[in-house]
Amino acid sequence: MNVLIVGYGRMGHEVETFLRSRNHHVVARVDPTPGVGDATEVSSELLRSSQAVIEFSLPEAVLGHARQYAGVGLPAVVGTTGWESDRAEVRNLVEGYQSSLVWGSNFSVGAHLFFALVEKAASMIADLPDYDIMVTEWHHKLKKDSPSGTALTTAERILKVLPRKKEINSERLDRAIRDDELHVASVRGGAIPGIHSVLLDSAADSLEIRHTARSRSGFALGAVLAAEWLVSSGRKGFLSVEDFVADTFASKL
Ligand SMILES: NC(=O)c1ccc[n+]([C@@H]2O[C@H](COP(=O)([O-])OP(=O)(O)OC[C@H]3O[C@@H](n4cnc5c(N)ncnc54)[C@H](O)[C@@H]3O)[C@@H](O)[C@H]2O)c1
Repeated sequence: MNVLIVGYGRMGHEVETFLRSRNHHVVARVDPTPGVGDATEVSSELLRSSQAVIEFSLPEAVLGHARQYAGVGLPAVVGTTGWESDRAEVRNLVEGYQSSLVWGSNFSVGAHLFFALVEKAASMIADLPDYDIMVTEWHHKLKKDSPSGTALTTAERILKVLPRKKEINSERLDRAIRDDELHVASVRGGAIPGIHSVLLDSAADSLEIRHTARSRSGFALGAVLAAEWLVSSGRKGFLSVEDFVADTFASKL
């Protein structure tokens, strides 16, 4: 596959590594920072030479690029985050041109496997009231927010399938937790790229589902797999990473 890389920062470099290891051809690396890529902007010539584009850039770049991709029907994977205010317009463009674009804030296949396993486990204890469930996450000492977005997604997926849990509580507690609260605890320190754990606990035993990130490479591999899926499936429309995941492995659970 001939793939255009747009945004040649940390993620763009990782994407290139996976594209090459999976025998794809990199058409060009587009980045406006002088000396960083092979081209400073997306041109019609580059679009014509490409079968797919993978973008990890800045939020303000997404709408303009999406217009260019949709205009020529180029399948696009957009991993850039923070363009929520342009989301409706990008959707209109993609749908208007009957093009295809898959977007998501987390392309890590392992993280999606974790969400799917957690959802399955939580639904299995719906009729087993002896089992309680809780979420813990660990991140490096420089992380500014808590709980992590991944922990919140994990908790929301649990609430969706476990009716007896009604709300997420991520505060420090000075009282006993209520049965309808799902506790999400955050620990900060060291250099941990990210650990998320879900514990199912009863008086008799305990089960743990854990996702440990080692680096950013999982995001890049997921984006490359999503581009392969988009091109090989011929899917059209404004798709989310969850559509890709559901098609490729979540339905097997
Ligand atoms: N979806 C995911 O799984 C996932 C994972 C990691 C990061 N991200 C997101 O991906 C984006 C990039 O992350 P990063 O760590 O590579 O950042 P980075 O700062 O290392 O790289 C971004 C690059 O985009 C370039 N850029 C700026 N304007 C551009 C434009 N108009 N066209 C093309 N390139 C442009 C910058 O010069 C820079 O080289 C961020 O929004 C980040 O939150 C998403």
